[in-house]
Formats: sequence, structure tokens, C-alpha cells
Amino acid sequence: MAYNILKGKRGIIFGALDESSIAWKVALKAHDEGAQFTLSNAPIAMRMGEINKLGAICGAEIVPADATSLQDLEILISKSTEILGGKLDFVLHSIGMSPNVRKKKSYGNLNYDWFQKSLDVSALSFHKVMQVGEKLDAFNEWGSILALSYIAAQRTFPDYSDMAQAKAVLESIARSYGYRLGQSKKIRVNTISQSPTWTTAGSGVPGFDVFYNYADKMSPLGNASAEACADYCISLFSDFTKMVTMQNLMHDGGFSSSGMTDKIVETLQK
Ligand SMILES: NC(=O)c1ccc[n+]([C@@H]2O[C@H](COP(=O)([O-])OP(=O)(O)OC[C@H]3O[C@@H](n4cnc5c(N)ncnc54)[C@H](O)[C@@H]3O)[C@@H](O)[C@H]2O)c1
Repeated sequence: MAYNILKGKRGIIFGALDESSIAWKVALKAHDEGAQFTLSNAPIAMRMGEINKLGAICGAEIVPADATSLQDLEILISKSTEILGGKLDFVLHSIGMSPNVRKKKSYGNLNYDWFQKSLDVSALSFHKVMQVGEKLDAFNEWGSILALSYIAAQRTFPDYSDMAQAKAVLESIARSYGYRLGQSKKIRVNTISQSPTWTTAGSGVPGFDVFYNYADKMSPLGNASAEACADYCISLFSDFTKMVTMQNLMHDGGFSSSGMTDKIVETLQK
């Protein structure tokens, strides 16, 4: 059910790769809620062509950008304000990638060039989006800027590898840039820490099915779905959350506050 709570708002949504992507669901809901936005992804991701389908459904133009490239971001942000006819009210950063995870490097045998790539793609790109947007004066007052994180920023999960460090940096950037943009333009900056979710990025982590099931059993509400995450993103883009900023917001069905659950006890007693 739509309430038109993003009517008149303009934004950029990064990271819709295919129908399973969290950003894909956010785009569909943002469209239903009356927002206008551009869609962006890395040029290499465009080759799959899936994003064109989403663009057609949402009436959104697609502007490729490698989120680690300042030049690409300048073009994307300038083009987006031109296409949308005004400054931006919201941005979704739904971007993550670790070559070390992809190539299944053990944590004691990381490739450091790849480590830097993980940090650049998954964390520094968030800073770059805000820095470029600020320099171009592309954000409206009372805007909302959001990135997606994971609880491995605070606690260790085997095989999440250098993505844990990337998420810790991402969450820290949200606090530091949230302070800056809050003072200058009343813009809020937050991260949502989402449950394990079956997507291309999620299922790329070795043993993902096991920790998906574990998290589901450790959460009184069960794992939060991608659709539920999209609903939460929409609420954070709306005017109902104007005073929420510099937060890492747990969206995990209660996982982060649970020490033990009956479901886990039952599993261990079998
Ligand atoms: N799936 C999960 O279990 C889970 C849990 C918590 C947080 N997250 C986070 O949610 C976000 C979205 O991931 P997802 O699960 O929807 O998977 P996804 O694979 O659908 O999305 C990841 C996106 O990052 C994009 N990307 C990679 N390198 C890029 C670059 N250089 N420039 C621009 N875009 C680039 C990919 O093309 C892809 O669209 C990520 O930050 C991820 O870490 C996912």
C-alpha cells in the first residue's frame, strides 16, 4: 500500500543489479511513493541489462558511474539534478564488493591491493558521493542520505573478511559526514544494518546459507527481508524521520539484542 510520502522528492539510487538487490526493491517502493530518481550502477553491471527493466517500470533514467571515481560521480550528480529538474532530497548507497571475499582469500592471507579496493568500493565511495554532492551544491536542505551496512562492523563473523572493516569505516563516515551536513544544511546521514539477505552480494559470502539460518533462528522476528528493508529506507527518506541522523540503525528482527533463543537451543539439543 502506498501513501505518497515521497511525493515531490528527487533522488539517486545506487546498486540495483537484479530483482534480488535491496536497491531494486527500494526503487520500486520509492516510485510507488511518488519519488522521482535516477538509477546508477557500475558500468560493468550495466552489461547484464537488468537495470533497464527497472528503469522502464519506474520511469527512471539510468546513469552509469563507478562509485569510486570522482569524475563519474560528478557527471552522475550533475546529470541527475538536470534530469530531475532540481536538487536531491535523498540518496541510497547500496554498494558493496570485496575481491578478497570473491576470491575466497582467508583472513590471514589477504591481498592488500584488494583490501584497499574493498574499502574504496564499499566505504570510501559513500564519502565520495557526499563530498562531490556537497561541492556541486546538489543536496536540498532536510535531505536524507543512507547506506546499507552489516553487523560484522561490530562483531566478528567468519568469512565476512575485510568487508567487516569496510562496514566499520562506512558507519563511521555516516557519523562524521552526518555532523558536517547536519550543521550546514540540516541533511541527515544514516546507515541501516540489515539482516543477511539472499542477493548477489550476500550469497557471495562463503557459508552464507548457514549464517542466514543462524540469524533467522537468533532473531525473535526472524530475518528482515529485502522488502522490509526497502520500507525502512523509504521511511528514512520521508519527512517522518527528519531528526534521525548519524545513526547505525539495526534492521535485523531483534538479532543484535538477542543473547540466546529457544530456536537455537532446540537446534543445539538435536
Ligand atoms: N545481502 C546481505 O546479506 C546484506 C546484509 C547487510 C547489508 N548488505 C549491504 O547491502 C548493500 C546492497 O547489497 P545487496 O545485498 O543488495 O547485493 P547486490 O549485489 O544486489 O548489490 C551490490 C551492488 O554494488 C554494486 N557495485 C559494486 N561495485 C560498484 C562500484 N565500483 N560502483 C558502483 N556500484 C558498485 C553492484 O553492481 C551491485 O549492484 C551492500 O552494501 C551490502 O553490503 C547486504
